[in-house]
Amino acid sequence: MDALIQYVKQCFKEEYTGHDFFHAQRVVSLAEKIYEKEVSFPKEEELRLIKAIGYLHDVVDEKLTSKRKERYQEINSLLEQEGFSPKEQEEILYVIEHLSFSKNQKERASLSLLGQIVQDADRLDAIGAIGIARAFAFGGRKDQALYDERVPLIKKIPEKRSSSTLHHFYEKLFFIENQMNTKIGQAIAKERTQYLKKFIEEFLKEWQQKN
Ligand code: ADP
Ligand code: NI
Repeated sequence: MDALIQYVKQCFKEEYTGHDFFHAQRVVSLAEKIYEKEVSFPKEEELRLIKAIGYLHDVVDEKLTSKRKERYQEINSLLEQEGFSPKEQEEILYVIEHLSFSKNQKERASLSLLGQIVQDADRLDAIGAIGIARAFAFGGRKDQALYDERVPLIKKIPEKRSSSTLHHFYEKLFFIENQMNTKIGQAIAKERTQYLKKFIEEFLKEWQQKN
C-alpha cells in the first residue's frame, strides 16, 4: 500500500481546506474500526479494499482537482501495481466516484457494504471536534462569515450557499446522524452531534455577550 499512500500524500500536498492527507488517514482508521465491529469474520482482502478506498476517496473529487482524467489513469496503474484484481479495481473506482455527500443528494447510489463503511467514516470526520475545525477552515478559505445573525438558524437543506459557517451546521452537519449506513457509525454520529450542539450553545452564548 506504500506507493498508494505516497501518491495520496502528493495529491494533497497543497490542500488545507480539511480535505487533506490527514483526513484520508482518519477515514481509513475509522472505517477499519467500523468494519471490524460490523462484520463477524473480518477478511484481510476486505481490509485492504477499505484502505484503498479510504485513501483514494477524495483524490478524484471535482471540487478538489481539475485533473480527474489523469488521476483516474494514475489510480488505475497504482491499483494494478498493488495487485488488486480487475473486480476489486472496479469496486474501488465505483465507490470513490459515488461516495461524496453532494453526489448522494442527487442520486442515491447503491454502495457495497465496504463503500458504505467508508462513506460513514467520511461523514463522521465532518462532525465532532475535527468536523468543527474543518468547517471553519473551509469557511475561512471561502471568505464565509463565522455567523450571520440576520438569518435564522433552522435545520433545512439549503437552496444556495450557506450564509455562514454556523449555518452550515444546520444545513448539512445536523443531518449526518440520520444518514449513517451502519449501526456503529450511527452511534458515533449521535455522540459527535451532541458535541456539535454543545459547541453551538457556547458559541451563541459568547456571541450574544457582545450586545
Ligand atoms: P463531500 O466531499 O463529502 O461532498 P463537502 O465537500 O461538502 O463533502 O464537505 C467537506 C468538508 O467541508 C466537511 O468538513 C464540511 O463540513 C466542509 N464544508 C462544506 N461546505 C461548507 C460550508 N459551506 N461551510 C463550512 N464548511 C463546509
Ligand atoms: Ni472525504
